[in-house]
Parts: sequence; structure tokens; C-alpha cells
Amino acid sequence: MISVERLTVDFGQGPILDSLNFSVAPGEISAIMGLSGGGKSTLLRCLSGLIVPQAGTITICDRQMPQDLPEIRSSMGMVFQTSALFDSLSVYQNVAFAIRRRGTPQQKEQLSQTIHQALNVVGLDPEEDGVKMPSELSGGMKKRVGMARAIVLEPKIMLYDEPTTGLDPISTEVIDGLISKINNEAKTTTVLVSHDVASCCRTADRIWFLENGTFTFCGSPSEFLNSKTPAIQNMLRSVRF
Ligand SMILES: Nc1ncnc2c1ncn2[C@@H]1O[C@H](COP(=O)(O)OP(=O)(O)OP(=O)(O)O)[C@@H](O)[C@H]1O
Ligand SMILES: [Mg+2]
Repeated sequence: MISVERLTVDFGQGPILDSLNFSVAPGEISAIMGLSGGGKSTLLRCLSGLIVPQAGTITICDRQMPQDLPEIRSSMGMVFQTSALFDSLSVYQNVAFAIRRRGTPQQKEQLSQTIHQALNVVGLDPEEDGVKMPSELSGGMKKRVGMARAIVLEPKIMLYDEPTTGLDPISTEVIDGLISKINNEAKTTTVLVSHDVASCCRTADRIWFLENGTFTFCGSPSEFLNSKTPAIQNMLRSVRF
């Protein structure tokens, strides 16, 4: 479903991604972990066509970057760390904007039904929460709106960049549950970037560990927890107490 081969990205001070290989099978949730500044967001930006790599190939749903970028983009939903909502638009309008930008015209009634459905999936009340402005939302609610805005376009691929950063453990668990639910019910293929070991182990089928521009580990959550890779052991030691 997603296949990345020998991907190299260099912003001018040595490669951030160095001939990296990565793949995600249909319906799978792959989580990417690694130290800050390691290039996780850079990889997601390459997958969504926001960065053009120096070398390598990216194939998504049998389509190739960069020539098939519009088709690839239209099959993709992205949830950013900052939620990236429009502050001057209500929750409802933020989701509606995503549909209008896609350019598929919908009757007002149908539009409203689609938005209601997406807000319900992420546990927001379309009537009560739909009219709220982003400034009135908690961090967790903003993430949910970001997720509703992505799933309303019925993507085949979902990309999440640190969707639980800044949330308390309970809200984190709720967002993790939603990521799994969206993946199962909408039959999406998911790439999740996260620093949260518990989140990754709960939601992911496979965990990848990025180090010095390449993946030094790929395995199941239980293999991750038992890995002898020094950088993973260091990370796991830091979350045990
Ligand atoms: N557009 C850019 N121009 C120049 N350098 C960049 C650009 N984007 C990222 N970088 C650099 O590439 C490196 C990797 O950044 P990236 O944001 O991908 O890391 P990350 O693994 O997502 O980190 P974090 O966990 O802190 O989010 C960093 O050193 C960053 O400064
Ligand atoms: Mg990042």
C-alpha cells in the first residue's frame, strides 16, 4: 500500500533521511518512533508530497510520487501535531472547509449529514460542539476536530504526526482508541508518528525506530519492548519508573 525505497532527504547539512526503506501493508497501522530531530515529520512530509526528496521512490496505492501527487493527496488524510484549525471558523465550518476545498459539490443537506457523521465518529456533538470556535476547545477536542476534518474526505491512508502530544494519559487513550477505530471501520492504512511508547504499543501493528536517517528496528510492539537495540533500550529506560 505504501512503499518507500532508498529515500534520501538532505537540507544542506548532511542527510536527514539516508537511503531509507519503509513499507506499510494495506490496513496496517505502522508507528514511527525515534529521537527528536531524527526526521520522522520529514518522512511524513515526503509521503504527503510537501517535501521533494533528493533521491528514492515513494509508491502509494500503486501510484508514484511526484507524478501522481494529486491522486495520492486525494486519497490521504493528515492530522498534524498543532491540529492546524482555522481560528476564525467554527468546528462545523472547519470540517465543511475541507470538503469544499476538495471541490466535490454537495447539497447543503448532504454536506450537513456528512459533517454530523464525521463529528459523531470522533465523539463530538455536532449541535453542541459544532458551533464552538477553536479558542473554546481543549487540546484533546482540537485533535478530534483535526481527525474529523481528515476522515470526512474518506481517505484510504491516514497520516498522524504526534496526535497525542500535550494530552493527559486518559485523553491520549481516547485518541488512540479513535485511531484504531478509524483504521478498522474505514479500512484505512495508517502511519502514526509518536513519542509515546504506550500509544504506539496500544495501536500499532508494527513499530519502526528511526535513527541516523534509517530504520534500525522494525517489529511488533512486543518485539519493540524486548528489543536489544541500544537507542530503544535507552528510550524504554526513560519511561520506566
Ligand atoms: N524545511 C526544512 N529546512 C531545513 N531543515 C529542516 C527542514 N525540515 C526539517 N529540517 C531539519 O531536519 C531535521 C529533522 O526534522 P524533523 O522535523 O523531521 O524531525 P522529527 O523527528 O519530526 O522531530 P520531532 O520529534 O522533534 O518532531 C531537523 O534537524 C530539522 O531542523
Ligand atoms: Mg516531528
